Amino acid sequence: MKIALSATALCVIPAVVALSISPSSDLPPSTTTSSGDADPTLDSLSARFIAKGKKYWGTATDIGLLLNNTVNEAIVRSQSFLIIHKLTPENSMKWDIIEKTRYAFNFIDSDYLVDYARSTGKLVRGHTFIWHSQLPSWVSAIKDAATLTEVIENHISSVGTRYSGRVYSWDVCNELFTAEGTMRYSVFYSVLGETFVSLAFNAVRKYDQTAKLYINDYNMVSNATQRFLSMINHVKTWISSGVPIDGIGTQAHLSAGVAGDVQAALSALAGSGVSEVAITELDIVQASPSDYVTVTKACLAVSACVGITNWGVSDKESWRTQDKPLLFDNYYRPKPAYEAIIAALT
Ligand code: G3I
Repeated sequence: MKIALSATALCVIPAVVALSISPSSDLPPSTTTSSGDADPTLDSLSARFIAKGKKYWGTATDIGLLLNNTVNEAIVRSQSFLIIHKLTPENSMKWDIIEKTRYAFNFIDSDYLVDYARSTGKLVRGHTFIWHSQLPSWVSAIKDAATLTEVIENHISSVGTRYSGRVYSWDVCNELFTAEGTMRYSVFYSVLGETFVSLAFNAVRKYDQTAKLYINDYNMVSNATQRFLSMINHVKTWISSGVPIDGIGTQAHLSAGVAGDVQAALSALAGSGVSEVAITELDIVQASPSDYVTVTKACLAVSACVGITNWGVSDKESWRTQDKPLLFDNYYRPKPAYEAIIAALT
């Protein structure tokens, strides 16, 4: 394992600071108590979801939204709004942040998130090792199989060893398929063919024997698409050849009105031979309460569905800037969709 900590990583990793939650002027008084904590009268969505037999309801966040945004942190940490039993690093575990240059690892942001999760009793969904996007150019430029193999194994061994036992699941491979169901072009596929998939999964399993290993993709909410059918066929083949795939993540970045097929899709994904499935990046255009309730009930109805992760807390930070797709508005107030889910879980 070659690992030369970059200068930034050599600096003292900021301990999880005791965040003083001061009431934010952004929040209407009804949302926080005078101490700045979340209103204890608000039900916990995750506690209800867990009471129904699921493992978690989580969110994606990152160091900036925890250190520099006390309102967001209050929601992420609070036991009242949304017990977040699961945190997904939105960006800090991606290759272009962790190993921007070869062998120079920067774990500052990812360490902060993992330490924060453990200090507040939360699990972590590691996201993501092998992805064609947010990949440093030095990786994309590799042309020979031996070099790329060594680079993948070294990256995974450095990250996997560091967080072994501290991450509930890893998105080992993300967005491998095209809409037509073929393997997406990437440096991994063009240099190594499909073997990069078994290489990656076996490497993560070698350095982290406890995490659940996922393959993750989008447009996986209807069993009528080529991408969906290709995912199932490939996962069946890979598992039968010994690739240690434990779970399939369906990202669920949804338009309005398409949630009706989610339950059937989750069931079909679970039938591929994995032990669990999860909704990993949920956001829904305009956050219609009925669509959010449909997705919630779909996961409840499929025993292999272990949990749901929202791709963010507040519309204010959503990557879908115009769609207002999350459960909390720009002032971090719970939206009708949040209340509808609580009611559905009551
Ligand atoms: O860190 C740099 C910062 O230094 C720079 O000043 C700034 C402006 O250029 O960019 C910052 O990087 C941005 C990064 O988010 C961190 O904020 C990138 O430009 C931006 O492209 C990146 O967007 C992320 C996107 O993945 C990249 O494709 C989104 O935050 C993130 O929500 C999104 O998440 C993906 C999942 O990982 C996979 N599934 C789809 C989902 C949505 O695209």
